[in-house]
Amino acid sequence: MLDSAIQYAYIVSAALFIFGLKQLGSPATARRGNMLSAVAMLVAIIAALLDQGIVEYQWILIGFAIGAVIGAAAARLVEMTSMPEMVALFNGSGGMASLLVGWAAISPGAGTFTLVTIVLSILIGGLTFTGSLIAYGKLSEKLGSGAVMFKGQQVVNSLIVLGIIAAATMFCMEPANPQWLYLVIGLALVFGVMAVIPIGGADMPVVISLLNSYSGLAACAAGFAVSNNILIVAGALVGASGIILTQIMCKAMNRSLSNVLFSGFGSVSTETSVVEGEIKPISVDDAYYVLEAASNVVIVPGYGMAVAQAQHVVKELQELLEENGAEVNYGIHPVAGRMPGHMNVLLAEADVPYDQLLEMDEINPRMESVDVCIVIGANDVVNPAARENESSPIYGMPVINVDQARTVFVLKRSMASGFAGIENPLFYKDNTRMLFGDAKESIGGLVREFS
Ligand code: TAP
Repeated sequence: MLDSAIQYAYIVSAALFIFGLKQLGSPATARRGNMLSAVAMLVAIIAALLDQGIVEYQWILIGFAIGAVIGAAAARLVEMTSMPEMVALFNGSGGMASLLVGWAAISPGAGTFTLVTIVLSILIGGLTFTGSLIAYGKLSEKLGSGAVMFKGQQVVNSLIVLGIIAAATMFCMEPANPQWLYLVIGLALVFGVMAVIPIGGADMPVVISLLNSYSGLAACAAGFAVSNNILIVAGALVGASGIILTQIMCKAMNRSLSNVLFSGFGSVSTETSVVEGEIKPISVDDAYYVLEAASNVVIVPGYGMAVAQAQHVVKELQELLEENGAEVNYGIHPVAGRMPGHMNVLLAEADVPYDQLLEMDEINPRMESVDVCIVIGANDVVNPAARENESSPIYGMPVINVDQARTVFVLKRSMASGFAGIENPLFYKDNTRMLFGDAKESIGGLVREFS
């Protein structure tokens, strides 16, 4: 009776995970999706505990309380702009958890299949753990964010892989001998470091999404090792969704996954062109007069809007422009900001209607009929060099063609480059005006002029 109730609970939990994931696909339903997935996790944990029979609830409750405090504090205290770092740490924790579950599942009578799944959970979990720590260090700039490459790197990596295969095979043949297991763990941890150091900081969000997928695969393997169906299902869902997100990001940057992982993007700049033209600054007053006469305005936000926390004041400006008779839309680049959906989350926080958020493919064909395009703290994702300069490191990356609007206002604090560290010829174009200053202050100034 209890047994079948547990199995039903697993099915309910799996269904909730799937519906939760589906709802995460749109900003309108994402909150509900998150809640559904959290309920699914609670059902899964309770069912798994009952499945184990007699367990020490006292330790579980202590772990639960510590985890809840850390989770709640992180959710409240971590800045939106630091979310990818937090996800990196969570992925690393997931990887370590799978490593420990796999390790704990070793028992004298384990068959070959179980041993293989144990090795996989330890291997993938271990490399996810150290890889995620390096990704965290690079993103938070506690480690240098550049790509670390050295002579003979491929050879060293190949030797590590061969060592892992040999040690894993020996472990499956002699599971009673712990030294093979220790070797697999040690090499997996080293491999995680080696796999992430040659990747530049600009590519870290992609790497984090990939490591998220790995943490799911490690959990899936751990699920096989301990014969737990919901762990297998949940791990597979995380593994699959992580790899899909990774592919979406690579496509948005027009790069292959192997180029992200092995090219050392960001270590050497191959850019050769010299940007022509001059910078034309504009004041808030003058920008106001141009906007007042505009009937079609597009706002293109980027990482700087997140830094300035300008989303609420941007919404105010949008409403004032609309009251003034202008049509206002937002152009959202898939990799604007520092994490997938970064701009959507911020604008949703400010209650910007979803139907005004247009994706790159929708906004680009309309750009020539736009009177004013306001670029708020975006740089790489509006860089025309991606279309015009074959020697640019971002050549071929799809960008929002803001330079095709009649007038472009670029709101940023200085002439500093964006995350990719490259010049942006947009700033020198005839139809571009630079509105220097913190984005929140500049937009606040425009709002004051309008009101
Ligand atoms: P960036 O190219 O990073 O440019 C951000 C700009 O914001 C900077 O030029 C900065 O200039 C400005 N800024 C910073 N603080 C500001 C403030 N308080 N007020 C006004 N401006 C401010 O941003 P982007 O265009 O959003 O591009 C995202 C980058 O991240 C791309 O290179 C993309 O490939 C990479 N990336 C993103 C993802 C995801 S999933 N989002 C994934 C992989 C890679 P100043 O310092 O002069 O103000």
